[in-house]
Amino acid sequence: MRLISGTTAVAALMALVPETLAADSAVFRDSETGFTFSQYSAPYKIGKTIAFRVAVPSGATPGQPYDAVIQVAAPNDVGWCGLAWGGRMTNDPLTVAWANGQSAVVSSRFTTQHSFPQPYTGASYEVFRTGTKSNSTHWQYTALCRGCTSFPASSSRNTTLNPNGANTFAFAYASGKPSNPSSNTSSFPVHDSYNYWSHDFASAANPDFVSLVARNSGRALEFVA
Ligand code: HEM
Ligand SMILES: *[C@@H]1O[C@H](CO)[C@@H](O)[C@H](O)[C@H]1NC(C)=O
Ligand SMILES: *[C@@H]1O[C@H](CO)[C@@H](O)[C@H](O)[C@H]1NC(C)=O
Ligand SMILES: *[C@@H]1O[C@H](CO)[C@@H](O)[C@H](O)[C@H]1NC(C)=O
Repeated sequence: MRLISGTTAVAALMALVPETLAADSAVFRDSETGFTFSQYSAPYKIGKTIAFRVAVPSGATPGQPYDAVIQVAAPNDVGWCGLAWGGRMTNDPLTVAWANGQSAVVSSRFTTQHSFPQPYTGASYEVFRTGTKSNSTHWQYTALCRGCTSFPASSSRNTTLNPNGANTFAFAYASGKPSNPSSNTSSFPVHDSYNYWSHDFASAANPDFVSLVARNSGRALEFVA
């Protein structure tokens, strides 16, 4: 007969609890696109926030790249805002976006230094028509990202985000607008502010991820996976 000692059980519980409680994100169900996101509300100006939302497929294999859907809702006076998937400005995919008329432009960037981030082909985006819009107060986009969850964190090491727990993210934003908003290679001014948070991926898991991507991209299911 095998016995698990009390201390072992308590230690096991304590190992689990911080990861669950540490995340700064909360569940957000988007009826328009059908995705369940985990959301972090980044402080912007007084009384305003920028919502950063992530959805991932259920059952992603730890250590293997997987797709993610990102949705961002920003007040109209946000010139650009960005998400750093590795929780820092350097050596991770930067998803930078801004409003463009009634729609939005998503720009894939990367940098090894604290200087203007250049276009990054290691991550690619498909902006969905559903979930990408603006109204009198906000602009919002929803996009599929390939290449955001696994990236060259150094020349000798790839980092893959944990699909079953929390990952450290960073945001940055500026109220200044990009110089050429219709172009995803536009330049944009340096951030007014940046900060870090812990984003839970376990609560971002969608069992119907592939069919939701198909529905929102307007593509047939067999061309999605
Ligand atoms: C115009 C483009 C940009 C310029 C010139 C720029 C420049 C800089 C500089 C000089 C710092 C160091 C500041 C300090 O030490 O106080 C910094 C830090 C930071 N930047 Fe940027 N940045 C740009 C775009 C971005 C973007 C697009 C993101 C994220 C999407 C970002 C995220 C961060 C973060 C999180 C930090 C804190 C330090 C770190 O985690 O590496 N930056 N940036
Ligand atoms: C801009 O969009 C094109 C077409 O979708 C894409 O090939 C390119 O990688 C994008 N560039 C950036 C910087 O996002
Ligand atoms: C405007 O859009 C934002 C972001 O999508 C949303 O949260 C807000 O409820 C919308 N406001 C109205 C009045 O529909
Ligand atoms: C990182 O992943 C890329 C794409 O899968 C691969 O080409 C590259 O060799 C990997 N780098 C390392 C250091 O493992």
